[in-house]
Amino acid sequence: MRRIIRAVSGAIRDRASQRPTLDPVPERVRIDGRVCLVTGANSGLGKAVAVDLARRGGRVFMACRGGHPQAGEDVRRLSGSDAVEMLKVDLADLESVHALADRLRREPGRVDITVLNAGVMPRTAWRSAQGYELMFAVHFLANRLLIDRLLADGTIRPSSGPGAAPRIVFVASEQHRSARPIDFEAFGAFHDYGLTDGLYYYGFSKLHLVTYAKELSRRLNPGPEVRVAVHSLCPGAVNSNLAREAPAFLKPLLFPVMRLAFASPDKAAAPVTYACCAEETGRRTGLYLHLMQKKDPSPYALDEAAGERLWEASAALLAQHPPAA
Ligand SMILES: NC(=O)c1ccc[n+]([C@@H]2O[C@H](COP(=O)([O-])OP(=O)(O)OC[C@H]3O[C@@H](n4cnc5c(N)ncnc54)[C@H](OP(=O)(O)O)[C@@H]3O)[C@@H](O)[C@H]2O)c1
Repeated sequence: MRRIIRAVSGAIRDRASQRPTLDPVPERVRIDGRVCLVTGANSGLGKAVAVDLARRGGRVFMACRGGHPQAGEDVRRLSGSDAVEMLKVDLADLESVHALADRLRREPGRVDITVLNAGVMPRTAWRSAQGYELMFAVHFLANRLLIDRLLADGTIRPSSGPGAAPRIVFVASEQHRSARPIDFEAFGAFHDYGLTDGLYYYGFSKLHLVTYAKELSRRLNPGPEVRVAVHSLCPGAVNSNLAREAPAFLKPLLFPVMRLAFASPDKAAAPVTYACCAEETGRRTGLYLHLMQKKDPSPYALDEAAGERLWEASAALLAQHPPAA
C-alpha cells in the first residue's frame, strides 16, 4: 500500500515539477502514408496515440485485444481519417503474437512506426497462456517476439541509405527504476505476488523492457548511421484504465486522484508523438524520454552485459515456444 501511495504521489510530483526540455511536435508535422502499428490502442494512451498518428496522415493498425470494432470507429471519427484498421492480438499468448505477425506480413506496405504500448497491472499474480508472469509476458516477452518476427519477415525493414529509418517506440515506465537487477539464474520464473508487491513486479517487467530497448538499439545500429530508431519512454501519470483492477476499497480514493492530477491520454501522448514524429528521434536512436525530457534510464538498463544476457535468455525462452504448425 505504501509503495502504491509513493508511486502515485511521485508521479504527480514529476508531472507538476518537471520543466519540459523538448518541444511538442507541432500539428503541422505530417507522416502522410507512413504505416503505423500501435498495440493496446483501444484504450488510454494507445488510443490517443492512434488518433494523433492517423490525424497526421499515418495509416494506422491498432493491434488490440479488446474494443473491436468500436475503438477503431472512434479513432476514425476523432482523427477524421479512414486509414485506420483494427487487428486482433492477445499479447499474453505468444501464439496470438505470431498470428499478428503473420497478418502483418501479408500487408503490401512495411511498418514505419511501431509503438509497443500495451500494458497491464493485475491485482494479483496471473499467468500468461504459456505460464509466465503476466506483466513479464505482456510488457517484455510479447514485444521481444513481435519485433523479432517483424524484422525477420521484412515487415520492419532497416534503412540502408538516405531516407527515413523506421522507428520502434516502447512505452515503459519510470517504475523501472524501482526494480532490482534482473536475476538471470531465475530468468522468466513465475513470482506469486499480491496487492502489496504487484507494483514492484510492474517495475521489474518495465526494467526488462527498457534494457531490451537499449540492446535492440545497439544491435540494429552497429555503425554510426541509424538504420532503425529505437526509443523507450515513460509518459508520466496518465488518467487511463490501467488501474481498473485496483481493489474496490482503493478505487474511491484512486480514481478521483487520477482524474484530477493525472494527464489526459491526449496530453500524455506528447512524448510518444515526439519519439514517433520529431526530426531528432528519426536521426538518433536509444533515447529514453520521461515526459518531455531526455534522461538516462536506470543504470541497470544501461548495463550492456545485462542487455546481452537478456537478449540471449529471452531468445532461449522463446525457442521453447515455436509457432504451431
Ligand atoms: N497510466 C499511467 O499512469 C502510466 C504511467 C506510466 C506508464 N504507463 C504505460 O502506458 C501504457 C498504456 O497504458 P494506459 O495507461 O493507457 O492503460 P490502459 O488504458 O489500461 O491501456 C492499456 C492497453 O493495453 C492493452 N492490453 C493489456 N493487456 C493486453 C494483452 N494481453 N493483449 C493486448 N493488449 C493488452 C489493453 O487492452 P484491453 O482494453 O483489452 O485490456 C489496453 O488497450 C502501458 O504500457 C503502461 O504501462 C502508464
